Amino acid sequence: MLLTRKTQVHSRLGAKPMQADCTLASVHSILEFETGIVGVPDRRTGFLLNIVTIDEAVRAIAHPIIARASLDDESIFATVRRAAVAIAQKLELDARVRVAYFACDLNPHTRVTYKRADPALSTLTPPAMPQPTFEITASYEFAASHRLHCPGLSDDENRRIFGKCNNPNGHGHNYRIEVHCTVASEDQTAFAALDAAVENEIMRRFDHRHLNLDCPEFAALNPSVENIAMVCFGYLKQALGNAGLTARCVRVYETHKTSAIYPSGHELDHSPQAKPAL
Ligand code: NI
Repeated sequence: MLLTRKTQVHSRLGAKPMQADCTLASVHSILEFETGIVGVPDRRTGFLLNIVTIDEAVRAIAHPIIARASLDDESIFATVRRAAVAIAQKLELDARVRVAYFACDLNPHTRVTYKRADPALSTLTPPAMPQPTFEITASYEFAASHRLHCPGLSDDENRRIFGKCNNPNGHGHNYRIEVHCTVASEDQTAFAALDAAVENEIMRRFDHRHLNLDCPEFAALNPSVENIAMVCFGYLKQALGNAGLTARCVRVYETHKTSAIYPSGHELDHSPQAKPAL
């Protein structure tokens, strides 16, 4: 059983800017955290853990660590790990539960998640957390037009299958792409490397383009959201690998109702807001 709880905290502690491309929300903002708890629910209450207990621990223990972090001396990864360990020490006083992950939104577009390799293990200190991983999730937007059409089918058949999306002159979407990756080291340049990979591999290729007409990837491949997700993942996997990051999956939203995740099977913890297109 995995229980997830998002805790929003009004930051009154004066969190200070981290770095130009990765900034903690300022004093007046709301910080959001997510805690994942595994274990067996209590027979009587049905609760794995009372969410009030989780919120209290995040607000009293984890948030001050994040907000007061001496960011000149410590990387964001180390800070998030300190917060995760501290909250685990508190919540795991209840021996039925283990903290599986702890996530912190660095800004509305970027989340860092500290995941324990085996949350079933009792772990209260960093050395006892075997091979934990940090996951970065970042979200971006691009605008593009496309037409869904299969040349091998008749015009009537294309209209029947694709409806309005078969309009001969195309139509547009504001796509949102979430990139989920793990970092091999705790190097803060990972954030800039991820931004650069998305800029070079996705934005330069697809932003403000007609996918069918401008992009060779879709000259013979129908630019459905499923295919867009697969193509984007292929490009990002290579580029992120070169930068020391491991691409786990991408999620492409065609609308807020429709998205495709590729590859599937990767647990998605969070969907941050998209970075506004410039
Ligand atoms: Ni469309």
